[in-house]
Amino acid sequence: MKTILTGLRPTGNLHLGHYFGACTNYLKLQNEYDFFLEIADVQALTDNFNNPSKVRENVLEITKDLLAIGLDPKKVHFFIQSKIPQIAELTVFYSNLVTISRLERNPTVKTEIAQKKELFGNNGESITYGFLGYPVSQAADITALDGEVVPVGEDQLPLIEQCREIVRKFNSIYGDTLKEPNYVLSNTTRVKGLDGNEKMGKSLGNAIYLVDSEEVISKKIMNAVTDPNKIRKDDPANPDICMVYYYHKLVNEEENNQKICTECKNGSRGCVACKKELIEVMNKFLEPIRERRKLYDDETVKKILEDGSNIAYQKAEEQLKKVKEAMKIDY
Ligand code: TRP
Repeated sequence: MKTILTGLRPTGNLHLGHYFGACTNYLKLQNEYDFFLEIADVQALTDNFNNPSKVRENVLEITKDLLAIGLDPKKVHFFIQSKIPQIAELTVFYSNLVTISRLERNPTVKTEIAQKKELFGNNGESITYGFLGYPVSQAADITALDGEVVPVGEDQLPLIEQCREIVRKFNSIYGDTLKEPNYVLSNTTRVKGLDGNEKMGKSLGNAIYLVDSEEVISKKIMNAVTDPNKIRKDDPANPDICMVYYYHKLVNEEENNQKICTECKNGSRGCVACKKELIEVMNKFLEPIRERRKLYDDETVKKILEDGSNIAYQKAEEQLKKVKEAMKIDY
């Protein structure tokens, strides 16, 4: 079986954007590959170094979310990045193989610096060495576990490319040692926020989380953005600019959605009734995820992470040994 590796920064719970954008893909891949799933706490600290408690709490939270959606700990090795010191060592070695200007030109890094003005300054003048270098550390994540395939979203492609460059450079200088990873695009669905924003995100405050309770779901959906031109209950409206219809399409059945669309267009469906129906369907969709989450208490999840980290450690140790031999530092 080929090895697949991906990572998630533990900075918050998973929302529908993660679910439809990446996680459904993981569910399929867990049956086809030897799957390492990294909880990237060290990477999360690169832009949360001033908030270690947030990262700490979210290690368990995000792992529970991933187990709740149906990833099977017998098939997936869940591991914590900081438990694998070999990754940090590889990062140091690889940092000689990448120029600062190349890192500054990395589109993912550029976008993220622009988004984090509070932390890194208006023009990125306060960017840290650690954050600028996280693509190097991510290359270490991938190669430490000998990842051949990396499932990622489109925003991550420049990081995979950077990893491939580092691998090529390493092999050309020290001899053929590392594998160049390939990516598979996780299902490219991008889920819009409740407010109609192109992206669902925590910082935007427009997300539906997999852990949201029935009450929270109800409140969020009642506040979702609908066609602003629809004033009265029986005004005809345009479902294509309505977020309620948009979410119906994600979680409701095709047959119902056709009916909703027609009724919305001809004015025979009020927004309140439509929202109530969505609340019901959304809760039904989330119910099995909520139920499965209950099976995983803190102790069980910690054990899963410990077991996965032990397996990752063994593999990373073998990789590090090969790297050190190639670099003639195998004392
Ligand atoms: N950078 C990724 C993200 O923000 C997370 C990540 C860390 C990752 N290590 C990885 C992804 C290794 C793929 C492979 O989503």
